[in-house]
Order: sequence, then structure tokens, then C-alpha cells
Amino acid sequence: MNTEVSESETEVAEPIRRSFLFAVSAAVMAFGLTAGYGMFAWLIGVFLYPFRESAESWQFLSDLGSFGVGHSLTYQSPAGQKIVVTRLADAGTVDDFIALSSVCPHLGCQVHWESNNARFFCPCHNGAFDKVGKPLSGPPKDSDQTLPQYALQIKNDLLFIEVPTTSLT
Ligand code: FES
Repeated sequence: MNTEVSESETEVAEPIRRSFLFAVSAAVMAFGLTAGYGMFAWLIGVFLYPFRESAESWQFLSDLGSFGVGHSLTYQSPAGQKIVVTRLADAGTVDDFIALSSVCPHLGCQVHWESNNARFFCPCHNGAFDKVGKPLSGPPKDSDQTLPQYALQIKNDLLFIEVPTTSLT
């Protein structure tokens, strides 16, 4: 058996080997360029259109029997939103209640419900809002800033609020 490689066989194998290496290196380079530009495009997309977490869930607030007319409670959602829930009527429906952000849209102070004045009041700059969160006076009125509202529902005489479960920041 002849184990020596003839010179003609070497001359034939060398171009095949070079072609193979060229094809492999071209494929690796194409993959690298695609991955690099793809990552660059993805980063630009994330920068221009950041992810918006919108997961929301219903959270228990109170049973109706222990939430009297004119009373309010403060609530902090799992994502950190501070909310004031107020009972405005006694019809026994979800329309008796309103849930508004308790963070003043002017500079972020805490607003609270004043049942004797039927308004939400912000003590920082005397901002006031009506019972549905529309501005009545102060800087929020000047710039027409309302209190964001949250959805409520009643199930089996229990009051629930729908809030984001993940922070937007
Ligand atoms: S922070 Fe509420 S009125 Fe200024």
C-alpha cells in the first residue's frame, strides 16, 4: 500500500482546501456583520420605541360595608402609584366610588379628599380638584392638569381597583 501522497494529489487538494477556507471565513464574516448590524438596529429600535410594560391586575380594596359615604382611603399599587379612593354616594354601585391618583400633577405633592368641601386639595400651592379630579384652582387650574383616574369594580360586595403591576420607570 502506497502511503506517500503524490505531488499531483497535493496540487489538486490545495485549491479545494483554499476554497473551503474561503467559504468558511466568508460565512463567519457574513454572520458577524449580520449580527453586528442586527444588534445595532435592535438598540436603535429600543431607544426610539422603549418597552412599555402594561400589565395590569385587579386588586382588592375594601368591602362595601366598611367604606362609608364621604370617606376615602389611600392605596399604593404594587408598582408604586399612590391612589386615593373616595365614596361619593350610597347607591351600592361602582359609580359611588372614584379612584384618583393622589399625586398632584403640578409638582407631585399628596392631595387629599376634603369631604366638607367636596374636593381634593393639594396643600403645597393650594391646588384644588373637583370630585372627579378636574382642576378647580391653583396651579393645576392654570395649566389644566387633572388627576388620573383608575378603574373600579364591585364583586360580591367587595371593591376592587385595576392598577398597573409593573412600574413604567
Ligand atoms: S404641588 Fe399641588 S398645587 Fe403645587
